[in-house]
Amino acid sequence: MQSAKKLYIETFGCQMNVNDSDTMVTLLRELDYEPVDNPSSADLIILNTCSIRAKAEQKVFSELGRMKRFKTREKRVILGIGGCIAQQEGEKLLRRVPYLDLVFGTHSLHLLPDMVRAAEKGERPVQNDFLDPEARLDLFPRKDVEGGVTRFVTVMQGCDNFCSYCIVPYVRGREVSRRSGDILREIGEMADAGVKEVTLLGQNVNSYGLKSVDEPDFAALLRSVSAIEGIERIRFTTSHPKDMSPDLVSCFAELPKLCSHIHLPAQSGSDGILERMNRGYDRKDYLARIGALKAARPDILVTGDMIVGFPGETEEDFQETLSLMEEVRYADLFSFAFSARPETEAARYPDELTRREKQERLDRLQSLQRSMTMEMSRGLVGTIQEVLVEGTSKRGGQLFGRTSGNRIVNFTGDRSLVGSLVRVTIVEAMPNSLLGEKA
Ligand code: SAH
Ligand code: SF4
Ligand code: F3S
Repeated sequence: MQSAKKLYIETFGCQMNVNDSDTMVTLLRELDYEPVDNPSSADLIILNTCSIRAKAEQKVFSELGRMKRFKTREKRVILGIGGCIAQQEGEKLLRRVPYLDLVFGTHSLHLLPDMVRAAEKGERPVQNDFLDPEARLDLFPRKDVEGGVTRFVTVMQGCDNFCSYCIVPYVRGREVSRRSGDILREIGEMADAGVKEVTLLGQNVNSYGLKSVDEPDFAALLRSVSAIEGIERIRFTTSHPKDMSPDLVSCFAELPKLCSHIHLPAQSGSDGILERMNRGYDRKDYLARIGALKAARPDILVTGDMIVGFPGETEEDFQETLSLMEEVRYADLFSFAFSARPETEAARYPDELTRREKQERLDRLQSLQRSMTMEMSRGLVGTIQEVLVEGTSKRGGQLFGRTSGNRIVNFTGDRSLVGSLVRVTIVEAMPNSLLGEKA
């Protein structure tokens, strides 16, 4: 029997891409490809790419350059590029990168096996068409359901929000919500396979179902997931503040399986900037939603995303962002310097700040956040937290897991606890995690 061919996938960007990479593995198994951890032995190398910021894109191109050396005279290796850069650039990539064999966009995953077959024959296939929503519903990426403690489940794809800085609507296409029946069936299968926690995934999960007549809205979907036996914890990401409905907020009061964490990106604390970002809410709306969430679930931890140096951002605007952070008291924050992206509205806005100005604001913001994160972590010392144990940590003998608020905890315990909810006393706060002892 012929031995399996080897597949190396390197994934950039967000969780959607991580999920898509898993789907690629599932699809390419049918062509006798087995995943490996190292490109040097691979017959097929795929870079699953991200173009959210210029830096993310540069990283991919330098990695592509590095992969070139695995294509030698002695060994025929197929080099492919998928994901958001592939969707954006399509055929242009073949001209720009002469040693590239295969380009497939975010809507073409289902075509990958045929495209790989063509590349095996020496062709250079390209596919970056967008599919219409109907077609996508039937082609929603499926991957093998395996066990594990915690899993992501895609509930919607694409984004219709067109925030003025963001490339996602141009590389992921229009928003489509997956059929609720399919979602619930998949989560049921996961529960049967021993999965304890699911994270419902999409660019904007709380607009789930709003555009499909036959589907529940997101709050109703959460209630159905919550009824699935075996699933003990539910998370979701990402939510958009403008779609944070009162009904969804009340889920935090009503559903004990729903974790005490919300990732709710504000992007800025200044009304003028929020307006030009096309976010559809102002500072007051945002804070009102945070207030309602904290009322529904007093121990909820809030995380978010923030952009500094948006075109025209003044020092006063930036101060508004810092003061919003102080009011919300984020447990953690992902923060980025504005990066002008092709096709987006904000790329045409004047008054982009210099790299140095942006970096300087980013440094100030991150230092404030570090101190707030540390303060929040210290506040947890002495409390008992319920931790879902996910595995053993690199440091020998320790287990790691997460609190309901999504903080990582390391503690000493037996391997047999992996997959269970354990009560842990927090004894020390570290910059990015907590140290605990079994209570
Ligand atoms: N759908 C999610 C996030 C998508 S991208 C949401 O709406 O929250 C992840 C983050 O990258 C964004 O929240 C934003 O903070 C950041 N981002 C997106 N485009 C950017 C750009 N052009 N420059 C800098 N940061 C950007
Ligand atoms: Fe981008 Fe805005 Fe859509 Fe998020 S909601 S993916 S930031 S356009
Ligand atoms: Fe990047 Fe595409 Fe995700 S641009 S952040 S991989 S949707």
